[in-house]
Amino acid sequence: MAKLIFRKQEEIQTEILNQIQALVDSQKPKGSVLNGTARLLKENFPKYNWVGFYLMDEGELSLGPYLGKPTSHTRINLDSGICGAAVREEQTIIVPDVKADPRYLACSLETKSEIVVPIRKEEKIVGEIDIDSDGLDAFDEQDKKFLEEISHLVSNCF
Ligand code: SME
Repeated sequence: MAKLIFRKQEEIQTEILNQIQALVDSQKPKGSVLNGTARLLKENFPKYNWVGFYLMDEGELSLGPYLGKPTSHTRINLDSGICGAAVREEQTIIVPDVKADPRYLACSLETKSEIVVPIRKEEKIVGEIDIDSDGLDAFDEQDKKFLEEISHLVSNCF
């Protein structure tokens, strides 16, 4: 898929949302939709250096489709990490500087900031989108809104 460059951020986001909607509508298996979504995000937003999904499984978070360096955090207890905190608090968490947040579980030495967005299905959290950036303070309200819309779209395949 061609990269969408030299375009306004909002236009790119709208186009990506349309492409994710099409993936969801394709009725492909969940893994395929999530993998395609991770690819669209990683390929079109250079600051999204690690893009992945964690899925709720027997009271823990289990690593699902992702793109970026392999992580040792394949299962995360809800008591730990930014990922666990986002489930407990049932809300998006933005960490502008991972070094300054004691909850942070390190995945890669290059990571400087992180956003975690819960995915809800019928009021229950079924998973989350986790994105790391090699840039400090990489995520703002526009990223939050965009990723929460994606979370809403992909919740349809859970
Ligand atoms: N940093 C996350 C762990 C997952 S890795 O970033 C892929 C956390 O603190 O929960």
